[in-house]
Amino acid sequence: MGYRILETGDIPAYLRERGHWEDLDDIAVREVSDGNVNRVFLASDAAGTRSVALKQALPWVRVAGPSWPLSPDRANAEARAYEQLAKVAPDEIPAIHGYDPENYALVMEDLSDLEVLRTVLNAGASYGPHTSSQIGRLVARLAFSTSDFGMPSAERKALIAASVNPELCKITEDVVLSEPYIEHEHNHWHEGVADLAAQFRADVRLRTEVADLRHVFMTSAQSLLHGDLHSGSVMVGTREGAPVVRVFDPEFSFVGPIGFDLGLYWANALVSEERARTLGRLTDHADQLRLSWEAFESEFRALWPTRVDTFFDDAYLDRFLRKVWTESLGFAGTEIIRRIIGYAHLTDLTTLEDPVEASRRALLIGRELIVRRAELATPDDVRAVVATDR
Ligand SMILES: Nc1ncnc2c1ncn2[C@@H]1O[C@H](COP(=O)(O)OP(=O)(O)OP(=O)(O)O)[C@@H](O)[C@H]1O
Ligand SMILES: [Mg+2]
Repeated sequence: MGYRILETGDIPAYLRERGHWEDLDDIAVREVSDGNVNRVFLASDAAGTRSVALKQALPWVRVAGPSWPLSPDRANAEARAYEQLAKVAPDEIPAIHGYDPENYALVMEDLSDLEVLRTVLNAGASYGPHTSSQIGRLVARLAFSTSDFGMPSAERKALIAASVNPELCKITEDVVLSEPYIEHEHNHWHEGVADLAAQFRADVRLRTEVADLRHVFMTSAQSLLHGDLHSGSVMVGTREGAPVVRVFDPEFSFVGPIGFDLGLYWANALVSEERARTLGRLTDHADQLRLSWEAFESEFRALWPTRVDTFFDDAYLDRFLRKVWTESLGFAGTEIIRRIIGYAHLTDLTTLEDPVEASRRALLIGRELIVRRAELATPDDVRAVVATDR
């Protein structure tokens, strides 16, 4: 039948056709797309006992329309990432009911009883003891299982080839890993940080370090990544009294440097911390980088004895983890900076009445993480950077 762009009214028949729903009389559908890129619909029955979510990629960016074409192949990347994640972290992603490559449509568990982590944090809630450690563990499991430690060499080569995601990688290479450091029409900023934006563009040392990270992003095929692991890609809540964490929206997935996933998560935690500092309501922000790193490291070390290639010895594990740590810090720095002087900003800061102090502190922390990443050896060293008077 070919690729059909689904409207709200098409969803019941579509779900039936795909075998997800039988009774066409008992289904209500609403569109809940609040991201920038794709469409998301929720379908539920009258009794509220059954519901599913459907996400469809259009051949353009949803909020821009056909004037900004973007291949719907990104839905294939998302489906592929979920396929790998389902093997190693099935309880930390939405259950996937089916993927339809012809229509670039993914039918999955309805998560609307949960809330997006960024929303929860912006409202003043804490992370709680579980969220960041579950994220760290998920990153370790995805990373290990799709690395040359967890996957036989030939299978890995096939995964790398199947997972190329050129358009979405290019977006990252541009908006995260170059534009904020040059004059570009995408860039914008609050006038209170204009001096820092100009300083960063003139900062030769910073530019070379970002170039290094950009090249790592482009060439370091360590593991399958989520690719966009910020606090808007995590849902949290409780079910039957137990804490629940769900990672979603892995459409930027490709085989890249593991530190990119950790770094994005850390950057968003550090920016959330600066928001909370401005509002005088810091909670457990200071623990999150350490919690996620410790969970990542201990899970990766726990998986190490199962590696498929034992030429990689324990001494190499230490060296490898050190490299991941260092690159994570660098990527965290780039994510902080691009979210303040680049294209897409964060509600953590934009909803502050006066975002200047938090933005300035975050920018300077971001710069330090990039240029000093090789000498920052532990989570405590990062806390020392955050605690420096600015
Ligand atoms: N499985 C789900 N259950 C309930 N709501 C969902 C589900 N998936 C997505 N949503 C809702 O739709 C929103 C957009 O989803 P998602 O982030 O996957 O789309 P996107 O267009 O790729 O967004 P972005 O612009 O952030 O990349 C989410 O923030 C959430 O509110
Ligand atoms: Mg998305």
